Amino acid sequence: MTETLTIRRPDDWHLHFRDGEVMRGVVPYTARQFARAIVMPNLTPPVTTAAMAAEYRERILAAVPEGLRFTPLMTCYLTDTTDAEDLVRGAAEGVFTAAKLYPANATTNSAHGVSDVAKIYPVLERMETEGVILCVHGEVTDSEIDVFDREAEFIERHMRAIVRDFPRLRVVFEHITTADAAEFVLGQGVNVAATITPQHLHINRNAMLVGGIQPHNYCLPVAKRETHRLALRKAATSGNPKFFLGTDSAPHLRSAKETSCGCAGIFNAPYALESYLKVFEEEGALDTFEGFASLHGPAFYGLPVNEEEITLERAEVTVPASLPLAGEEIVPWHAGEVLGWRMRG
Ligand code: NCD
Ligand code: ZN
Repeated sequence: MTETLTIRRPDDWHLHFRDGEVMRGVVPYTARQFARAIVMPNLTPPVTTAAMAAEYRERILAAVPEGLRFTPLMTCYLTDTTDAEDLVRGAAEGVFTAAKLYPANATTNSAHGVSDVAKIYPVLERMETEGVILCVHGEVTDSEIDVFDREAEFIERHMRAIVRDFPRLRVVFEHITTADAAEFVLGQGVNVAATITPQHLHINRNAMLVGGIQPHNYCLPVAKRETHRLALRKAATSGNPKFFLGTDSAPHLRSAKETSCGCAGIFNAPYALESYLKVFEEEGALDTFEGFASLHGPAFYGLPVNEEEITLERAEVTVPASLPLAGEEIVPWHAGEVLGWRMRG
């Protein structure tokens, strides 16, 4: 049996750090494991300009523990009134690595999101020409569409049009949760890829709703039925470079999760690699883990792979029931469970 696994240092291609005290508390968990991370811009107010992103990046860098090398990769929150020139200049200056499309009101802090994709077509055109990557939260928001169908519906209404109208635009379909999304991505050219979270590989929708409401298994897009989970596991472990790691770690304090209207988001940063590795091992796919975690993302983003290596070793690790954060508590993903791998160092 494999006892250790040594791979290039991975990157996290989608996560939320927040700001202030929460940000300072969560950055170390990510910086310990990952060399780089695509940082989501859904702060209040959202990160909509290169100047805001540059300042936010400085605040994140100041929170990286001494001795760790970590590079936050910043994203621009697209709105109906995004200034394409500022975005393109920010990308050219290395402030922005990508821009993020949140359909208005799709998820946490997305009220300023795009109300109609047609409104940002001029921006997408510039992004295509200048080679700026588009990250997409792929869910429609109409109240008449069932929450479990919102991703599949987004593909039909918007994704197909975006890839048809901007054939050279690089698009990341983020945190995919359905077989439909995996199939869609597989059917596109090399300019379309997807990230997959650990939670969508581990749970189906029963985990939210059976045995009482389980707020710590609630995130957006919501987990779907078992057939979808199995399709995602197949995609993630397939070795296909279109699929790569993006945790969507989304910290919300316990008090904001365990309440009458709990926030969407799962805080999986502390044991992210161990969580993914459990899935790859169960699928008999330890050999494709490095591609998913460390190689496919940089290739898609046109960035070098990390030179450093990390080693994971077989060991029983009990995930704490909660962790201190910002003077309160946060419940990590896999709280109270025993995982079979541990990252060295
Ligand atoms: C994210 C958050 O809390 O910012 N929540 C989530 O459930 N994933 C937003 C998002 O990525 O949808
Ligand atoms: Zn997210």
